[in-house]
Amino acid sequence: MTPQPAGNPSPEKAKRSSPGPDAPRSDTPSSHAPGGALSQDAPRRNFFSQILAFFIGGLILAVPVASGLAFFFDPLFRRNRGSSGGSDARRDAGGFLRVASLASLPDNGRPQIFTVYDDLVDAWNKFANQPIGRVFLRKLPDGSVTAFNVRCPHLGCAVDFRPAQNDYFCPCHMSAFNLDGRKENEIPPRGMDALDVKVKNGTEVWVRYQFFKAGTPDKIAVSA
Ligand code: FES
Repeated sequence: MTPQPAGNPSPEKAKRSSPGPDAPRSDTPSSHAPGGALSQDAPRRNFFSQILAFFIGGLILAVPVASGLAFFFDPLFRRNRGSSGGSDARRDAGGFLRVASLASLPDNGRPQIFTVYDDLVDAWNKFANQPIGRVFLRKLPDGSVTAFNVRCPHLGCAVDFRPAQNDYFCPCHMSAFNLDGRKENEIPPRGMDALDVKVKNGTEVWVRYQFFKAGTPDKIAVSA
């Protein structure tokens, strides 16, 4: 009998201890043990984890995106809300603008010309105190004030005041208007455009500045 090394079983012993190719296979313990059910649930758990991570990630991303969009479009919202009525608004709630002090108008009824200023706003910019037009103001004997837009209702030229004739005069087509704004010849289609005016606190003249379509007998506003 050939002596075998101490650590190696003899081939006969190894043959006896190992199952043969025809021996029935035993299933892995995981297929029947509770641990097997857990391994089958693992893909489902991963799917729900990914869905949850997707929604949490979306929420985290939505906050800065929404803040950025709100900041970007805020000027548009502000414009839709309107600029009247704010603490720094130049127009009052009725859309009137302060044009002059009542003391700056002479008591003799002579018209004075004034530039009207407003704050202009486009979508993202504000331009403060910009000239938007000119008006004639005239103080009447009873203390009230009249206002006319200087634009000629014929084709929009600037009308002037003629002290010698005591009337308004348009040099473009030699047309004249009396102090009440009525036309004195047939070229202009209508009289001068009167504007709403009020005296605040007995000292300030405020005008709702508008301009109107030229060349038409009707007074059609083309600005607020
Ligand atoms: S533009 Fe004034 S009369 Fe023609």
